[in-house]
Amino acid sequence: KILILDFGSQVTQLIARRVRDSGVFSEIYPYDVSDEFIQSYGAKGVILSGGPNSVTEGDTPRAPQAVFELGVPVLGICYGMQTMAQQLGGKVETAEALGKPREFGFAQIRARGHTKLFDGIQDATNDEGHGLLNVWMSHGDSVSEMPAGFKLMASTDSCPIAAMADEERRFYAVQFHPEVTHTVQGEAILSRFVKDICGAKADWVMGDYISEAVAKIREQVGTDEVILGLSGGVDSSVAAALIHRAIGDQLTCVFVDHGLLRLNEGDMVMEMFAGNLGVKVIRVDATDQFMGKLAGVSDPEAKRKIIGGEFIEVFDAESAKLTNAKWLAQGTIYPDVIESAGKGKKTAHTIKSHHNVGGLPEHMKLKLLEPLRELFKDEVRKLGVELGLPREMVYRHPFPGPGLGVRILGEVKKDYADLLRRADAIFIEELRKTVDEQTGKNWYDLTSQAFAVFLPVKSVGVMGDGRTYEYVVALRAVQTQDFMTAYWAHLPYELLGTVSNRIINEVRGINRVVYDVSGKPPATIEWE
Ligand code: XMP
Repeated sequence: KILILDFGSQVTQLIARRVRDSGVFSEIYPYDVSDEFIQSYGAKGVILSGGPNSVTEGDTPRAPQAVFELGVPVLGICYGMQTMAQQLGGKVETAEALGKPREFGFAQIRARGHTKLFDGIQDATNDEGHGLLNVWMSHGDSVSEMPAGFKLMASTDSCPIAAMADEERRFYAVQFHPEVTHTVQGEAILSRFVKDICGAKADWVMGDYISEAVAKIREQVGTDEVILGLSGGVDSSVAAALIHRAIGDQLTCVFVDHGLLRLNEGDMVMEMFAGNLGVKVIRVDATDQFMGKLAGVSDPEAKRKIIGGEFIEVFDAESAKLTNAKWLAQGTIYPDVIESAGKGKKTAHTIKSHHNVGGLPEHMKLKLLEPLRELFKDEVRKLGVELGLPREMVYRHPFPGPGLGVRILGEVKKDYADLLRRADAIFIEELRKTVDEQTGKNWYDLTSQAFAVFLPVKSVGVMGDGRTYEYVVALRAVQTQDFMTAYWAHLPYELLGTVSNRIINEVRGINRVVYDVSGKPPATIEWE
């Protein structure tokens, strides 16, 4: 296994992720673990992460000296390179002292000399026959003198010592970040380090993660009881399944149904968890309470506040009844951790002020259990499948916390929600059924998010011999990588036609269906 020492970079988890991707087990520990820990850990190699500090200042983090005395390969990344250089007798200087600009973003480095780390790994070759690597840099300080025994591995114009190595001792250091995808060969470089240089075995699979996580959860909570707010979304579902695997009936899930869920969603959550998996789930049907609070409110942000606040109230009231609970479990995943990490903090590990934690009564003093903190969304999905959750559920499109509350424009009413649920279910059913010939995939999988929106306006229609005057439903389907920007999906006309026909025929109260052809920006994905 590979030991990653964290100096507080925002992207430390990505190192672990890349190492896992190459099939090698790795763990992240804070940089200030003891020498004894390092000696007894049994690492095949150590990676020192980047970090926000400057080694030119006195009281900033250093690697435990034992790291350099273990006899295993060490890779320093960014701050990790700088502290390695300084601790081994080299010199690090600030951008100001060196009279160089700070370097953020894309850079092209030239490989100098032949080292095992870069051998045969390059994006291009220059006229002199040096390998070129396209990398991502983010640093102010630079190594200005290498420690004794090191040779230059790579340089750029603004960073003469961009990578260095002491191949005798197997110490490597790079100023750029191989863990981010902008460094095209980053995965190859990390894989080279862990597999070829450290000789770590590529035998790690998601199944191992489960047994390790299960052991860790058992050790953490002992015989204590744990509460978890189950929403039916991927993260809380996978967390519930994993924790249940670890501690069985010591886990109680609270599932708050705010009346703004999709068709049959509440029943499906209960069937899946309480039924199939045998998890203890308390279902709270708070529809009336939510609808009461939402009556007369049409401003989107006001609605969000009410739904969020009410959710906390209901969850708190229910949790307060579970007087033995000592832990609150959450499906926090790694992107949440990064997102909520405050700027200027020493490490990236700040706890998310999650909507269902913020309001927990002080006296409960629950400790947080977050078994998915280290995983990315796609890893959480794989874990879910491995834990026996249906693929269909685990690969669902995202669904906003306020649910249909922001898909019913203006004032939310139960009747509107009932109409929308049925229209939405028809749309989703047809998307799943319709296979695109070119890709062989169905349109649900070809879109990132798809749903129906209820428009509280009436338009005229004709059905049979009669005139109708009923509501409109808009269909929305988008394709996106990160949900920050999105294209509207070019769904086949036949599919749209079928969905429209079915909704108008099957959902009484809707006589017109329209398709949203707006991109984001300038529109957003949701209508509110
Ligand atoms: P927009 O509409 O901003 O949506 O383009 C981007 C993504 O965020 C989701 N979304 C929300 N998720 N609470 C949530 O949990 C919300 O209030 C909320 N508003 C939007 C939206 O579904 C899309 O995936």
